[in-house]
Amino acid sequence: MEFIKVTDNKEPYVALIELNRPKELNALNRQLMEEVRDALQQLDKNDAVRVIIITGSEQAFAAGADIKQMADKTAIDMLMIDQISTWDQIRKTKKPIIAAVSGFALGGGCELAMTCDMIIASETAKFGQPEIKIGTMPGAGGTQRLTKAIGKAKAMELILTGRFLSAEEARSYGLVNKVVPKEMYLYEAFQLAKEIAQLSPVAVQLAKESVNRSFETHLDEGLTLERKNFYLTFASTDQKEGMQAFVEKRKPDFKGK
Ligand code: CAA
Repeated sequence: MEFIKVTDNKEPYVALIELNRPKELNALNRQLMEEVRDALQQLDKNDAVRVIIITGSEQAFAAGADIKQMADKTAIDMLMIDQISTWDQIRKTKKPIIAAVSGFALGGGCELAMTCDMIIASETAKFGQPEIKIGTMPGAGGTQRLTKAIGKAKAMELILTGRFLSAEEARSYGLVNKVVPKEMYLYEAFQLAKEIAQLSPVAVQLAKESVNRSFETHLDEGLTLERKNFYLTFASTDQKEGMQAFVEKRKPDFKGK
C-alpha cells in the first residue's frame, strides 16, 4: 500500500485506514482509491475486525479527486477508466465505517466521508462540493448523498456555489454526528467504534443494511427488509446470548455467530 496505511491492532476489533498523500492534501487518485477498495474488502472478511475507521491527516481528510490526474481526460477516457466504480466497495462493505474528519473534506473527500456510515469531525473540518468552481460537478455521490443528508435547499446552495460548510454547520444540518476539538477527533471516532464493536456483529451488520436500505427504496420494501433482518438475528447465538444476559442481569459476550 503506497497511499494508505492500515492498522488493525490499535484497539480490539477496530481497524484504521489512514489516507496518506499529505503533500497533495490526500487528493484521491486512482491508486489510492484502489488501495482503499482492497483494504475494505480484506477487512470486511477479517473476523478480528468489527468496525472500520477511515481518516486523513489533521490538515485534510481529502481535498477531492485528484484534479491533476483528471485535468486532460476526455469524456470517453473518463467513461472507459470509470474510476468511480472503485468507490462502490465502500457502499458494499458490510461492517460499519466511521469517517474521522479533520481539515478539508472537499469534492470526492466530502463524498468519501458521506459514503461512510457516520462522521466524527474536528472543529477544523470544512465540508464542501467545490467541483462547480473547476467547471464540473460532483461525480461520486455528492448530489445524491448531500441532498439526502442536509436537504435540497442547502445542498443546492453548496453544490451550485462551491461554498464550504464549517464543522459546526455540518453538525447542525445533520451531516456530522459529533464535532470535537481538533486533538480529539480520532479518539472520539475510536470511542464510537469501540462501543459498536462490543455489540453483536451479526445484528450490527443487519441493522446497517436495513438503515441504508431506507435511502434506496420506498417504505414498504424497507420495512419488509427490516422485518426479515430482525427475524434473521434470531438465527444467531449472539441474539440468544444478548437476551439471556439481559434476563440473567449480566454483560453479554458476543461472538459474531
Ligand atoms: N487534486 C490534486 N491536487 C490537489 C488537490 C486535488 N483535489 N487539492 C489540493 N491539491 C494539491 C495542490 O495542487 C498543492 O500541490 P502543489 O504543492 O504541488 O502545488 C497541494 O495539494 C496543496 O494545496 P494548496 O496549495 O492549494 O493548499 P491551500 O491550503 O492553499 O488550499 C484547498 C487548500 C482549498 C483544499 C485547495 O487545494 C483546493 O481548492 N483544492 C481543490 C479542491 C477541489 O476542487 N476538490 C474537488 C476535486 S474534483 C472531485 O472531487 C470530483 C468528484 O466528485 C469525484
